Amino acid sequence: MIDLPLEGPLMDDDLIAEFLAAIPLPALLVDQSERIIAANAEALTLLGQQITGRHFATILRQPQVLDAIEAALRDKRPQQARMLSNDGAQDTTYDVICRYVNGIGAVQGGAVLISFQDVTHMQQAVQMRRDFVANVSHELRTPLTALMGFIETLRGPARDDAAARDRFLSIMEGEAGRMNRLVGDLLSLNRVESEERVRPRERLELNEILRATINSLRPLAEEASVKLELAAPEAAVEITGDSDQLRQVFTNLIENAIKYGGSGGRVDVVLSASDRDPAVRGPAARVQVIDKGPGIAPVHLPRLTERFYRADNHRSRELGGTGLGLAIVKHIINRHRGRLRVESELGQGSVFTVILPR
Ligand SMILES: Nc1ncnc2c1ncn2[C@@H]1O[C@H](COP(=O)(O)OP(=O)(O)OP(=O)(O)O)[C@@H](O)[C@H]1O
Ligand SMILES: [Mg+2]
Repeated sequence: MIDLPLEGPLMDDDLIAEFLAAIPLPALLVDQSERIIAANAEALTLLGQQITGRHFATILRQPQVLDAIEAALRDKRPQQARMLSNDGAQDTTYDVICRYVNGIGAVQGGAVLISFQDVTHMQQAVQMRRDFVANVSHELRTPLTALMGFIETLRGPARDDAAARDRFLSIMEGEAGRMNRLVGDLLSLNRVESEERVRPRERLELNEILRATINSLRPLAEEASVKLELAAPEAAVEITGDSDQLRQVFTNLIENAIKYGGSGGRVDVVLSASDRDPAVRGPAARVQVIDKGPGIAPVHLPRLTERFYRADNHRSRELGGTGLGLAIVKHIINRHRGRLRVESELGQGSVFTVILPR
C-alpha cells in the first residue's frame, strides 16, 4: 500500500500505531497518497475493520468530511466537519477534526490525523431545549390568544351586553387559570428536577397520605359520578419520603383516573406492602390506581411521562390538562428511588402502579 520508499522516517509504523492507540477517540492517519495509513481500534469499530490501505474517500463518503480532509492535506491547516451517522440504534453526530502532522507518511510530506468526537448527546440536549421552548410557547399561546380575542370582543361588540360579558369573563377566567396551572406545573417540574438527587428524609405513613389525597379529590369524583375507594392494610405502611411530593404524585394519578378513566364509574386505590419487591430489590410499598375507563393505546404508553405528552390531545386539553403531570410524577418517584408502572388495555381501563422502597 505504500508506493514510495521511506527516507529516514521520523516515526516508524509501530510508533505511529502506539500513538494512535493512546488517543481515546476514533483516530486515523491519511497521508499525501490519500490513503489511510493507520487507524486505532476505536476507528476500526466506527468505520470498519478493513479500512487501512484504502483511499479515504471510499470510507468517508460525506462531502463535508471529504472537503475537510482534502483541504487539510493541501493547506496543512486544521479543519473540522460534521459527520452524521447511525450506530444501528440511533442517529449519531460526530465532529471530525483534522490536524496536520509533519514528517510522517509515505510521501514524507506528512499526514492528516483525523479524530472523531461523538457529539450526539450535546446535539440531543440542544434539540430537547429547543423542543421544550417551542412546547411551552405553544401551550401558553393558545389561552393567551383566547384571552386577547375576548378582550377585544368585550371592548367592541359585547360592550353593552351584560349577559355576554358574564359568559366571556368566565371563559377568560378559565383560560387564565390554565396559564396559571401551566406556569405552576413548570415551576414544580423545575424544583423537582433540581432536587432529584437529594434523598427525602421524612418518615411518613402512606395510609395517611392516601386518605388525605382521596378526601381532597372526593368532590371531583362526585362531580364525575365516580366511586372512589381506598383499600389499605390495617397496619401503617411506613416509608421515608417527602409527603408533599407524594401527595402530588397520588393527586395526579387519581385525578387522571377520574378525568380520563372516570367513564368506568369507579376508581380504586390499593395500598400494599411486601418484604421483597423485585422492582426495587428489597422491602417495598405499592400503590395502585385502577380505573375501568377507555384505557390507553400501547403506542402511547412509553411516552406518557414525557413533558407535554397527551394520549388524547383534544380531550386532555378540554379537561384543562397541561401534559406535565406524569413528567412531575416520574421525577418525584425517581427521587424516592421508586418505580412507576403503567398497564392498560383498550376498553378495559388502566392501572398505574407506584413502587416505593421501604
Ligand atoms: N387513567 C388514564 N386513562 C387514560 N388516559 C390517561 C390516564 N392517565 C393519563 N392519561 C393520558 O396521559 C396524558 C398525560 O397525563 P398527565 O397527567 O401527564 O397530563 P394531563 O393530565 O394532561 O395534565 P396535568 O396532569 O398537567 O393537568 C393525559 O393527557 C391522558 O391523555
Ligand atoms: Mg394529569
